[in-house]
Amino acid sequence: MEQYAIKGGNPLVGDVEIGGAKNAALPILAASIMTDETVYIDNMPDVRDTNVLLDAMGSIGIMVKRPDRHKVVLNAGNVNSLVVDDESLKKIRASYYFLGAFLAKYKHAEVVLPGGCDIGFRAIDQHIKGFRALGAVVTIEHGLIKAHADRLVGSHIYMDGVSVGATINVMMAATLAEGVTIIENSAKEPHVVDLANFLNSMGANIKGAGTDVIRIKGVQKLHSTEYTIIPDQIEAGTFMFAAAVTKGDVTVKNVIPKHLESITAKLLEIGCEVEEIDDCIRVVASKPLIHTHVKTLPYPGFPTDMQPQITVALALSKGTSIVTETIFENRFKYVDELTRMGANIKVEGTTAIIDGVEKYTGASISAPDLRAGAALVIAALAAEGTSTVDDIRYIQRGYEDFHLKLQNLGAQIELVQTEKDFQKFKLKIG
Ligand code: UD1
Repeated sequence: MEQYAIKGGNPLVGDVEIGGAKNAALPILAASIMTDETVYIDNMPDVRDTNVLLDAMGSIGIMVKRPDRHKVVLNAGNVNSLVVDDESLKKIRASYYFLGAFLAKYKHAEVVLPGGCDIGFRAIDQHIKGFRALGAVVTIEHGLIKAHADRLVGSHIYMDGVSVGATINVMMAATLAEGVTIIENSAKEPHVVDLANFLNSMGANIKGAGTDVIRIKGVQKLHSTEYTIIPDQIEAGTFMFAAAVTKGDVTVKNVIPKHLESITAKLLEIGCEVEEIDDCIRVVASKPLIHTHVKTLPYPGFPTDMQPQITVALALSKGTSIVTETIFENRFKYVDELTRMGANIKVEGTTAIIDGVEKYTGASISAPDLRAGAALVIAALAAEGTSTVDDIRYIQRGYEDFHLKLQNLGAQIELVQTEKDFQKFKLKIG
């Protein structure tokens, strides 16, 4: 079984290149189905979730070429099935983006019910509400969501809660519907905007993405495009907090600083220096960290996908901090693992009360999900002594070459497969 072996204590220092955003790449891949013409996508992250989606696309007759690691060429002119029930897709949430894309183009879709990280109940009622408002009949049978429409007709849709997935799915379906669709209370995340830009580059007519009202004028068909995916806000934020926790000096390169404002604000509050230089951000942690409070919120608020990483930093910060999770109700499962490393955190419902400690100590820990897994790796990098992190397949869902990028910053981390590898690692680090 693969695991990370980590010897903590080295401050991370240097530059790290940030890859394309996983959560933009997934809907963009699905939306590529919406034209019969060839689509060229650059800055594709080479991570497990995007690869699972690409495999599923290949299995239904979509031509998928990978001219290099970060470029994908797709042609969906010969799709041979509108049923997407690949077993591996159950593990990723974004499989439901096939619903919006297929429904738009073929007026029919059957997709396996989504999985993803186990971070709480993840409803899809707003997706279904949106599809129905456009005229689709939606049912759930035998573990599949089925959506069918004779015609899709634009509608005025009010989202009862802010949902990234529902905004994206309804936006895709409305793109090829007749007439105008207005989505109110839409999500404003950078990946929602990136998908809108991608669809517009294929001939869609979408206005207002990035605000809470999106207006989509349906078009008859979409065409070929060449498109570059935005940088991954969460990968960047993870390395920024890695700098803070290890008392390091890290520059994240190829980022959009605007997308990182809430993360930057919190790093400043806890005593880091943060410098923006064009498309780079440098984080220096030369002083002891100090406590703060944080509440996760939809963009531009502090992202729920950065909640474990900031908690890892606050648990090493002087004083008492409070972290409130408002998006997912079960996102503190990693706290038990962090406690085993010496953290002092009490979780009450969706709130964590954190009393900062001086240091973590290395332990054998497991990644409970994608972002918490990355956060625990950061904790291990700051800890005294050696740690192992199991279940790293979760981390590999969303971080490309995580341990290699960390090694480049001076971290003592190796991917080990066997006890022998681990013993070798221990000998190497002395
Ligand atoms: C996406 C991201 C995920 C991120 C999350 C919030 C992808 C692949 N995943 O997930 O990394 O943590 O946004 O930024 O992009 N909800 C409903 N009904 C619905 C849909 C959602 O009640 O129909 C609720 C959810 O249970 C949750 C909240 O709305 O409490 C936000 O969910 P949503 O924004 O939809 O998250 P995802 O799109 O699943």
